[in-house]
Amino acid sequence: MAKLNIGMVGYKFMGKAHSNAYRALPMFFPDRIKPNMKVICGRNTEAVSAAAEQFGWAEHTSDWKALVSREDIDLIDINAPSNAHKEIAVAAATAGKHLYCEKPLALSLQDSRDMLEAAENAGVKHMVGFNYRFAPAVMLAKKLIDEGRLGDIYHFRAWFLQDWLVDPDFPLAWRLQKEIAGSGAHGDLGAHLIDMSHYLIADITEVIGMSETFIKERPLPEETGGLSATSGKTTETGPVTVDDATLFLVRFGNGALGSFEATRFATGHRSTNSFEINGSKGSVIFDFERMNELQVYFTNDKEDVQGFRRVLATDPSHAYSGIWWPAGHPIGYEHTFTHAFVEFLDAIEQDRQPVPNFNDGVKCQQVLEAVEQSIKERKWIDVSSL
Ligand SMILES: NC(=O)c1ccc[n+]([C@@H]2O[C@H](COP(=O)([O-])OP(=O)(O)OC[C@H]3O[C@@H](n4cnc5c(N)ncnc54)[C@H](O)[C@@H]3O)[C@@H](O)[C@H]2O)c1
Repeated sequence: MAKLNIGMVGYKFMGKAHSNAYRALPMFFPDRIKPNMKVICGRNTEAVSAAAEQFGWAEHTSDWKALVSREDIDLIDINAPSNAHKEIAVAAATAGKHLYCEKPLALSLQDSRDMLEAAENAGVKHMVGFNYRFAPAVMLAKKLIDEGRLGDIYHFRAWFLQDWLVDPDFPLAWRLQKEIAGSGAHGDLGAHLIDMSHYLIADITEVIGMSETFIKERPLPEETGGLSATSGKTTETGPVTVDDATLFLVRFGNGALGSFEATRFATGHRSTNSFEINGSKGSVIFDFERMNELQVYFTNDKEDVQGFRRVLATDPSHAYSGIWWPAGHPIGYEHTFTHAFVEFLDAIEQDRQPVPNFNDGVKCQQVLEAVEQSIKERKWIDVSSL
């Protein structure tokens, strides 16, 4: 297959990020299948038409049902909020399309399982949007763990801190409505941390958590997209039906312990997405705001120079190095999406499932729901019981 015809649903934050990644692919990864930006889809005809023009899509439509049944589309890329994922994914899989779906995979564990089943029954390739796995510094952490260079892993602690909801007058965007988003900081930010821990450490087996909704009523929005929203002239308010912050503890299948914090109320933190791992032979610290760097510590360094050191993951030994820029020239957020799509294109070419796929999406959803159950019942929950 020389090219892959893409149909993409959603044209705002992730729609733009994905479009940008598709555009970069043929320039930086010319040996791969060429993604053909064929049709972009959204509910507002005028807005989706403008997005098609701006992002470089050949056609636009406001009818996703017609889009997924088109013979000339090979892959459906879903960038709508969680409540729309399942219906679109199941219809697209049934029509034989490969699927890329943003995280969290679905509104609920059951919906995510239905999506996986539909994709497996259809025999299509499926991938979920855990793009942070594809930062070269994260891939370096994975390599150090896999090669045993951190020894036995004892601790994984992760935090994803944002502050865009500290203002009580920030409107009731879709991310604050359970029926659309599924959950709040937990499913939006915590989902990335859970997947990261599954990727780097092991499956989570047991959880206990707590959460809070600090501001319970907010002004109704006039317009909402990504992490922004504007309120209209109305003084009407509505209830926030998701968590503003969720914290939880876990046990991993390999005996390691983990702690997780996801919040939109960490004043001063625009988007601090970090983890630290401690093993018997060393530790690593990653902070997405400095995404080209991994801090590493090894116990076998000479005593007089022991300490954390900063490795810039742009050298020839690091993932994707040499493809973008020479060593020492950093890359950014947008490159993680391009790398994710490279994995997807490779998987299609090699006739295997990409990683992370819907199985990883389901596994993440299982932990999200186990944490919610533990909060409700105020006790530890065995993840495999869900
Ligand atoms: N991987 C990441 O880092 C990352 C970052 C942000 C968002 N996300 C995920 O991406 C998805 C979209 O988030 P976003 O920030 O781009 O949202 P957004 O509000 O910026 O854009 C959502 C888009 O979906 C469209 N849409 C909404 N409801 C729809 C429906 N029922 N049918 C068809 N289209 C619909 C909207 O018109 C809009 O174009 C969510 O699942 C979110 O969790 C992932």
